[in-house]
Amino acid sequence: SWDSLALTPPMGWNSWNFFEGKVSEKVIMDMADAMVSNGMKAAGYQYLVIDDYWVGGRDRENKLFPDTQRFPHGMKYLADYVHSKGLKIGIYSDAATLTCGGVTGSYNFEDLDAKTFASWGIDYLKYDYCNAPEDVNTAFCRYYKMGEALKHSGRPIVYAICEWGQRKPWLWAKAAGGHLWRTTWDSRDIWESKNKDLTGIMDIFNQQEGLANYAGPGGWNDPDLLMVGLYGKGSSSSVNGRFKGCNFTEYRTHFALWCMLDAPLMLNLDLTKMEADNLRLLTNKYLIGINQDELGKQATTILRKGDIQVLSKPLKNGGIAICVFNRSDKPATVNYQIKKDLNIWQPVNAFDVWKEKETRKAVTLESKLEGHDCAVYILSKAD
Ligand code: DGJ
Repeated sequence: SWDSLALTPPMGWNSWNFFEGKVSEKVIMDMADAMVSNGMKAAGYQYLVIDDYWVGGRDRENKLFPDTQRFPHGMKYLADYVHSKGLKIGIYSDAATLTCGGVTGSYNFEDLDAKTFASWGIDYLKYDYCNAPEDVNTAFCRYYKMGEALKHSGRPIVYAICEWGQRKPWLWAKAAGGHLWRTTWDSRDIWESKNKDLTGIMDIFNQQEGLANYAGPGGWNDPDLLMVGLYGKGSSSSVNGRFKGCNFTEYRTHFALWCMLDAPLMLNLDLTKMEADNLRLLTNKYLIGINQDELGKQATTILRKGDIQVLSKPLKNGGIAICVFNRSDKPATVNYQIKKDLNIWQPVNAFDVWKEKETRKAVTLESKLEGHDCAVYILSKAD
């Protein structure tokens, strides 16, 4: 069924923040090779999504064609290559005549474009909303139109709705056929900005409050791409070098929070040049297990005191994932009584994800946190 295309949050890579208008056939092939050789594929990453700036125009039959300089062999060739690696390929368009980057969009050509994507072997479409009318009715109609077109394209294609959370898409994106929907404006490679137009990781995280009930198997809240490992090198995410980027502790918390939130795990960094610590983090099987847990329950906040916040996410096997995180840039040590403070059953075994160490019949959880740091625990019933 349509829903079963995203029973767990999609995992993969997107070209936007790092390569922006330089995305090419070569870039996608290099990323596919790297995803296989560095263990990312084995860890569950699957999609390679080509974002804005791939389109060359429409031919005499109105069929889309790619920029021939950067995609010299065409999209079918590229899709075949990605599939030959056991991976899937995504593409991008916009619900208007022009995309955000000013190349041709799909408005009025939804059926033709969906069929074209299917004929190339595309597995995922990110559908943007630049240059389109503001009102929610028009947005719904345009997204629904493409949703129907994809459903009738003859190929299963994951449908990512990208109107930046402007019109509460969590209320209608599933009815439009969407498997995921952006809940915010673009993330920047910065911890927190508090400026409405420059959304940092914490700004985006704050905007997920209250959305948990809208997500589940088949349809996910999308708090945008992962900044992990960019270190200010992404042109878009750093706003042309304006931010020097986050540090590793912040990326680690970013990744853990996005796993807890059942967010799509879409990376941006150059997969051919990954530092060992980022590779280890992004392939952490416990965090990915939390994100891909089949129950599909987005984490909610169970405790917040000052700069310390605790999230909880129920798991399919009856366990609970807990994330304790420190919003402050100062270190903090926190100690919770599992029963009294967190209201969680006893006896319980607590597995510390960073230390990979289980405490049997744990009564308290003590977390020593650096500034902007977090700890993640998987709790399971002890007998
Ligand atoms: C706006 C989206 O939110 C971004 O993720 C990216 O797709 C750009 N548009 C591309 O122009």
